[in-house]
Amino acid sequence: MDYEKQNGKSSEAAKEDVLILAIESSCDETAAAVVRNGREVLSNVISSQIDLHTLYGGVVPELASRKHIEKINQVIGQALKDASVGLSDITAIGVTYGPGLVGALLVGVAEAKAIAFARGLPLIGVHHIEGHICANFIEHRELEPPFLCLVVSGGHTHLVKMEDYGKFEILGRTRDDAAGEAFDKVARAIGLGYPGGPKIDRVSKEGNPRAIAFPQAHIDGCPYDFSFSGLKSAVLNYLNHAQMMGQEVNQADVAASFQSAAVEALVSRAMLAVEEFGAKQIVLAGGVACNLALRREMEEACRARGCRLYYPSPIFCTDNAAMIGVAAYYEYRNGVRAGWDLNAVPNLKLGER
Ligand code: KG4
Ligand code: ZN
Repeated sequence: MDYEKQNGKSSEAAKEDVLILAIESSCDETAAAVVRNGREVLSNVISSQIDLHTLYGGVVPELASRKHIEKINQVIGQALKDASVGLSDITAIGVTYGPGLVGALLVGVAEAKAIAFARGLPLIGVHHIEGHICANFIEHRELEPPFLCLVVSGGHTHLVKMEDYGKFEILGRTRDDAAGEAFDKVARAIGLGYPGGPKIDRVSKEGNPRAIAFPQAHIDGCPYDFSFSGLKSAVLNYLNHAQMMGQEVNQADVAASFQSAAVEALVSRAMLAVEEFGAKQIVLAGGVACNLALRREMEEACRARGCRLYYPSPIFCTDNAAMIGVAAYYEYRNGVRAGWDLNAVPNLKLGER
């Protein structure tokens, strides 16, 4: 595809600007964005596959890869068009290379390599979670590291210290299910369907968060680690028991009680870290950062400790390429460049290259 012709004459973008064309395809969104100087999003195009995967109750990896292949050129073309730029204005290509579904990641990585090679542009491999954290820079121009970060997505739950751009220390992580995964599994069990997080968030407003006392898991010697599989099993046991006893289940009460226990587990660890490190700023990142109860409880707990809380708008919480463009910009500034052997790394660890 000739992006230059499609977009007409190259724009007047100032040559000293760093324009990143970013590509994200790690799970079920095909996304591309153009980001100027790390903080200004010129375009952010997301083609969601939710309708496709809803039919199966969750993401089907093979279908996700095929859909990415179908959509990726169109999405990139649209991102350039929305930003009123052509490829000749682009300084570098940023792409998510892990973690994620290997077949899905490969589509973005291959596309990014092809464009970068054909145009002689620098290529930057971005860690998906680093992207989620960097989403906070888009709307909070004053925000600079160091800060603490609670990363809560469908695949990850991490408590992280971002020391500087591109420099992370992981304080804690989930031992089993990610927070979003627990929301999705519980939603399915109580008949809300996929994707579960937003549905539990909505239904919980009608329920009593204290109706059922679901347990909290604590991991000896690892105060910042999380575990959500016990909470999920407790919900399943509650539902099975009610069914066996012929008791009616109040869906909203179960959703609200589960959400309250999950949010409490997240907030309590985050606040432990805020106190331990005397943190003055903490950010939320990832899809579960959309959750209203989590935002509310974090606001309250942070206010009580004199810590400023930041979180992105919902569109920048869930998967998008703008956040990858922001992370790529800071990697670019740090001199990070990928070779033509850049590959998808499905289990890439944060802070690793
Ligand atoms: O960050 P994300 O888009 O993808 C991953 O990198 O995993 O996160 C998706 C996850 C899903 O598990 C979804 O259910 C959850 O974020 N999520 C929510 C809400 N919106 C999305 N969970 C709780 N409350 C929400 N409002
Ligand atoms: Zn994500």
